[in-house]
Amino acid sequence: MKFYVTTPIYYVNDVPHLGHAYTTIAADVIARYKRSKGYEVFFLTGTDEHGQKIEKSAREKGMTPKELADSVVVNFKKLWERFNISYDHFIRTTDDYHEKTVQEIFKKLYEQGDIYLGEYEGWYCTPCESFWSKSQLIDEKYCPDCKREVERVKEESYFFKLSKYQDALLKFYKENPDFVKPKSRMNEIVSFVKQGLNDISISRTTFKWGIPVPFDQKHVIYVWFDALFNYISGVGYGWDEEKFKKFWPADLHIIGKDILRFHAIYWPAFLMAAGFELPKRVFAHGWWTVEGRKMSKSLRNVVEPNRLIDTYGVDAVRYFLMREVPFGLDGDFSHKALAHRINGDLANDLGNLLFRVLTMTIKYCDSTVPSPNNDRDRELEELSHKVMEDVDKFMEEQAFNRALESIWDLIRAANKYVDTKAPWSLAKEKKINELHNVLYNLLETMRIVGVLIYPFMPEKSLSLLEQLGMKNAPQKEDFVWGKLPPGTKVKKGKPLFPKVDEAKIAQDVEKEILEAESSEELIDIEDFSKIKIIVAKIISAERVPKTDKLLKLNLDTGKGIKTVVAGIGSKYTPQELIGKKILYLSNLKPRKLRGILSEGMILAADDGKDLYLPILPEETPVGAVLK
Ligand code: MSP
Repeated sequence: MKFYVTTPIYYVNDVPHLGHAYTTIAADVIARYKRSKGYEVFFLTGTDEHGQKIEKSAREKGMTPKELADSVVVNFKKLWERFNISYDHFIRTTDDYHEKTVQEIFKKLYEQGDIYLGEYEGWYCTPCESFWSKSQLIDEKYCPDCKREVERVKEESYFFKLSKYQDALLKFYKENPDFVKPKSRMNEIVSFVKQGLNDISISRTTFKWGIPVPFDQKHVIYVWFDALFNYISGVGYGWDEEKFKKFWPADLHIIGKDILRFHAIYWPAFLMAAGFELPKRVFAHGWWTVEGRKMSKSLRNVVEPNRLIDTYGVDAVRYFLMREVPFGLDGDFSHKALAHRINGDLANDLGNLLFRVLTMTIKYCDSTVPSPNNDRDRELEELSHKVMEDVDKFMEEQAFNRALESIWDLIRAANKYVDTKAPWSLAKEKKINELHNVLYNLLETMRIVGVLIYPFMPEKSLSLLEQLGMKNAPQKEDFVWGKLPPGTKVKKGKPLFPKVDEAKIAQDVEKEILEAESSEELIDIEDFSKIKIIVAKIISAERVPKTDKLLKLNLDTGKGIKTVVAGIGSKYTPQELIGKKILYLSNLKPRKLRGILSEGMILAADDGKDLYLPILPEETPVGAVLK
């Protein structure tokens, strides 16, 4: 029984953040679970090091791309070590064996006619080194990124015949409805492919940082063609045939929803063309927001993974990420919610239970696991077996949160069992038989809980099991009731999860976010000086036909008449505006709106509900500059 699981390989133009940690922890959880169930597991992660983005980012930092990659890879490896990520191999796309494989496959596909030389025609922004389609441009002329004018280019490029695989892909999806999970994402992919696939450009000549096309050194291979084949080269293809044969096809590619098309359309098409078996499943997880906001650069500090580990401990963070949000959906990371789970689920429900059970075993049974009798009740035993079955089912579906919910059903049932059985009363009443039965049931339940939480919280699991006198990481044989040998000595350790101050955490984070947000808005005086705002007089105004909001205004700017299209028509009538002196942003790039060239913008205050036009005193001179 084998299981091959992968994470995406991460771009090295960025340091590792919460999103990277999330995917990687999920892959680790499943890898550890499968190993503990007796599977031979191969778990691959790594870095995506080629392409224009990396080249540019290295240039900005004054480094070569390889130097940049070498420095960033260290951060990823260190973080994975801290998170206890049990990967079997770390692939870098600059590794020799990988580059060789990519070139070999590229050549093969070229020779068999799946790759051909063609011409890429499109719009190109030189400063950004990016291609754009007409519909992406602003006013059909400007780059959507830097707003500079683009030029029309024709560039020689190799193409992959994606169109040829459309029917084969649809057939494959039909026969393998679980190929993409969650199901809603499978539906998206199917309808996308049904709309028709174009061949895709898979080489570039405008930059150098990539794997060269082996028979045409002018071209480098497109970074996604290069990157996707890591899943093949990373598992031995070209350097360990035996490993490759054993583990390919991949059982599970875990990725984020943003890169699903590459994995669910391009990747299987590339594999079909190259003659490989197709992976069994691609699971696309959702995205995290941070404290209700998009994870911007400044907010990333708030959830910097090393900081989270320092503050809360590795396992609490792993638990929270897997528990808080159903895998596949978007979710919000909030420190308050994390602190609440630490105090509730981890410290109270789990930590306290272990503490109570051990304290009673020490007190009433001389620190020794008692022998149960045949007349003992089977309440916890039965529930344990049901929970183990449910966890297995949920792990097969990558429903990590549900697996944890089931485990917590058992933990809560055990807490309740302590209260209803009241071992302290049994001891007092000298009902020794029953006392032993109850304590054995509880200790054995704790052992099973320890086994089940292992994939999620490996350190805490081992510490819990050690306190019960068990030495090893969970194995296949441990998933059955009754494995805790009577006579085993138990030993109370440190509390599993120290409590945290929820109120203080929430308060501190709120303060930090306010600061981050206001620092985000700070600009230099030089930034402000780029903006030219002057006083202008509205000399004529009329509604733009077929719109409710737009007014066409002619402005006297002191240096000629300018036309502006302004979205203020729902509040102001043309008549009331004529003759008014207002503020005019004069150096904004002109832009066509409803066929009218708008040469700048007038300024109004907007509170999200209504508009307020600052109207200046009559005596303000036209052309006066706002400073
Ligand atoms: N290099 C490509 C993957 C190539 S795989 C053959 C890539 N790298 S990445 O570093 O940009 O992103 C890696 C993963 O991080 C993606 O799966 C993406 O979904 C995930 N995340 C980035 N931001 C995220 C959140 N805010 N939340 C959750 N995951 C997110 O793409």
